[in-house]
Amino acid sequence: MTSDALPTFHIADGPAAVEADLLILPVFEGPMPEDGGGDLAGGPADALARALAAREITGAPFEQWWAPAADGWRALRVLGLGAGPRERWSADLARRLASAGALVARQRRITDIAILLPGAEGLATAGLVQAAVEGVVLAQHATGHLKSTQAELAAIRRVGLVLSGTSEAQRAGLDAATRRGRVLAECTNLARALGNEPANVLTPRELARRAQAAAEGTTLSVTVLDEVEIRARGMGLLLGVAQGSAEPPRVIVIEHNPPGAPESPVLGLVGKGITFDTGGISIKPADGMERMKVDMAGGAAVIGALRAAALLEAPIRVIGIIPTTENMPGGRALKPGDVIRGASGTTVEVINTDAEGRLVLGDGLWQARQLGATHLVDVATLTGACVVALGRVMAGVFGGPAAFIESVRAIGEQTGDRCWPMPTADDYFEQLKSDVADMTNTGGRPAGAVTAALFLKQFVGGLPWAHLDIAGVAWADDARPYQVKGATGAATRLLAQLALDPQRWV
Ligand code: BES
Ligand code: MN
Ligand code: ZN
Repeated sequence: MTSDALPTFHIADGPAAVEADLLILPVFEGPMPEDGGGDLAGGPADALARALAAREITGAPFEQWWAPAADGWRALRVLGLGAGPRERWSADLARRLASAGALVARQRRITDIAILLPGAEGLATAGLVQAAVEGVVLAQHATGHLKSTQAELAAIRRVGLVLSGTSEAQRAGLDAATRRGRVLAECTNLARALGNEPANVLTPRELARRAQAAAEGTTLSVTVLDEVEIRARGMGLLLGVAQGSAEPPRVIVIEHNPPGAPESPVLGLVGKGITFDTGGISIKPADGMERMKVDMAGGAAVIGALRAAALLEAPIRVIGIIPTTENMPGGRALKPGDVIRGASGTTVEVINTDAEGRLVLGDGLWQARQLGATHLVDVATLTGACVVALGRVMAGVFGGPAAFIESVRAIGEQTGDRCWPMPTADDYFEQLKSDVADMTNTGGRPAGAVTAALFLKQFVGGLPWAHLDIAGVAWADDARPYQVKGATGAATRLLAQLALDPQRWV
């Protein structure tokens, strides 16, 4: 079980008629519009206007305002949730608000909710509905499966999505939007569950089994290369990282090959699958090292995205590659100064064994090319330097050509997996020059996230390529109103949307 049973969704016409134990309303900043309260007239409009005037609620994001049921309305109570300025209302905000509302309801054991979704110009109703469904399903994510006493949060069972001011035509296709939202969020929750799993449970072999389980009930095919096959393919960078561990490495290959798919594009998704990163001989400090169980978050996002691509029938071929191993300081472990050779023939002088992600991804990118990818996207918790640069709000996106990167950025904005473009000018390769091999695996402190990308660039063979460094966004140390602590499933929806919508980037 990766999440609680999912709620049922229904579309409701207007807030007065919707039956629910709790009706959640976005409350925008500023005074109520001069239309007698619009949708809320005859309901909580007057009480809300008074609360706004008294600044009991200001509309700042995620503020709460509780009110009793309005006479004649069929919902029992209302919860106003601050939604920021009306002109910035978006699908992304609707996703977060729906999550926040659903989390509050779960805490209070309210399982039957409705959410009012105000329309706005330039905001497609289907997009709004999809985002709200995603928000509720993301909030349903179950944690605590290893606790002996069961979690305190109730599961949402029924959700009404209240639309007003939309035409009949706009409402057509909302079933499909609901399904998309449900699948994308469920697959994000799958990636989160993998990221939260302790490393003694989620070994490379277990990650491969979970990938096979994720493919069940879909048309995906999964192939797992074991250590013998990895050696036969000459993947010495992955083997180098793996040699310090008692757990054998794997390469997980997941293929979505829909009938009638065009020959091009073929999307290659490569995810870092380090099930635990001690740093190896260049060992990390003990403080916070437990978080390095999430160093397979890129691989988890690839697994989730492939499952979503299959369930939602992405029109193109998609190949997911997850090189997976532990990074441990064993007696046979890599030592600084060792030189290893990847499947592409490139030799690498290992200066720091903690820069292991780029090593396994180098062989992973090569494998994706061998299998016929025309476009490459890799996802990795790759560098602390990216956390320094962009913090916990956005991932870094590196690569080219620029139009491809811009598509990735825009799709990230839409799906809630935000990322920001960073440079990959070849001038930075200077920092990776080695006296003894084709390159080193570290470029020193300056531009650490960029030199990591430059390392990967040597393996993409000039194909269109985007590298997502999710080190800052794969794990939430603190709960947010719309998100519990722990693994976030970052990049899952972005990758899935790339597969679903190739017109946006070919
Ligand atoms: N897995 C880490 C990066 C990381 C840091 C992920 C913080 C999540 C949060 C990666 O393998 C790593 O150790 N990178 C080194 C590279 C350095 C040795 C060049 C780093 O960022 O310190
Ligand atoms: Mn590392
Ligand atoms: Zn790592």
